Amino acid sequence: MSDPTAVPSSPAPAKAAPAVDERPYSPGLEGVVGAESTIGLVDGKNGRLLYRGYPIGQLVQKGTYGEVADLLWTGEWHPGATLPPEPVPPAVMSALRELPRDAHPMDALRTAVSVWGATQRLSWPPTPEQARALTAFSPSALAAFGRLRLGLEPVEPDTSLELAAGFLQQLTDMAPDPVAARALDAYFVVGAEHGLNASTFTARVITSTRSDIASAVCGAIGALKGPLHGGAPSEVVNQLHEIGSPERAEAWVREAIGRGDRIMGFGHRVYRAYDPRAAALRVVAEGMGTNAEWLEMAVKVEDVVLRVLAELKPGRVLSTNVEYYAAAVLQGIGLPPELFPSVFALARHAGWTAHAIEQVSANKLIRPDMRYTGPLERALPA
Ligand code: ACO
Repeated sequence: MSDPTAVPSSPAPAKAAPAVDERPYSPGLEGVVGAESTIGLVDGKNGRLLYRGYPIGQLVQKGTYGEVADLLWTGEWHPGATLPPEPVPPAVMSALRELPRDAHPMDALRTAVSVWGATQRLSWPPTPEQARALTAFSPSALAAFGRLRLGLEPVEPDTSLELAAGFLQQLTDMAPDPVAARALDAYFVVGAEHGLNASTFTARVITSTRSDIASAVCGAIGALKGPLHGGAPSEVVNQLHEIGSPERAEAWVREAIGRGDRIMGFGHRVYRAYDPRAAALRVVAEGMGTNAEWLEMAVKVEDVVLRVLAELKPGRVLSTNVEYYAAAVLQGIGLPPELFPSVFALARHAGWTAHAIEQVSANKLIRPDMRYTGPLERALPA
């Protein structure tokens, strides 16, 4: 009798080698068009960023995050659109209380969004209402963890405030300073959307499987956690701390590049010009009037880094990216550097969720091909 557990033996290896796979391969999918979108234009050559056609500089000057998020979700500009913070559901608060105090705030935020999703019975497809609810919830959850990690009790949101101010109020348990609240709101506007970056792509991939909006944002937070994407502003602070003074900048940069290190806050996959978000945030940082000494040093070091990068990496335009002046704004507000990446994630909720909504409008499962370079079929040793 034959052995019922026996696996059928594989056929003998084909004698003829398969045809060489000549389909184009682009490492990092660079230059590959992965979606069509009406949400944001990232014009890397000209250093231009538009949300639904409106330039980022104008949106920062005249808009609020509530208006901008609404614009991203609906495609229309509704002046006066508001986005107050939402309270944290008990299940999420319990989960946050269980986390170690030294957990990475991005992990805490990702956990909070995951638990929130489990409490919401989210239907597919994602809707602007789901996007609004999730975007308004996350700052409250991060603020709660921001306090728990210091041994402090979370505080309820003041729902008469807008999202950025409401986040500061819940983080500090004080009425937010209007200058800091306005600066954070501007930062949220600048961080809200940026085309098909790694985290937004992740959100679209997850949505394309008909998974829910909370799963899409959990995945996006995971992608943003990496230092090559959203982890740079806290690194910028460390970097400036290490450099210490503008006179030491040149030697420090040359040494770092000599070791093969990246200078944080510089370079971008798409921009071959000054990142327009860095320009907008530099204006915000200068307008705050706090942290003037640090900002002066950052400006001087930036000049040196740009000159040395142009000399040592002549093949590629490496200019200042958003993270450099994001660090100045977030530091000026008084936020601890450990929270910078997660605050960036709060801002990007509007873009991620807008892309999730857009993905379903012409949904096709995202599933790229791969070129196999491993061994051809072979038999296991006897
Ligand atoms: N410092 C030094 N060299 C750099 C830098 C940098 N910041 N950025 C790119 N380069 C160099 C690379 O070493 C490489 O040089 P080589 O050709 O001599 O090997 C060349 O430029 C191309 O680099 P890639 O990694 O292929 O470029 P890519 O487009 O993939 O990189 C990235 C984009 C990841 C942002 C990169 O510029 C970087 O690591 N910057 C520092 C981290 C940072 O600031 N991240 C925030 C980005 S903004 C955001 O995500 C919100």
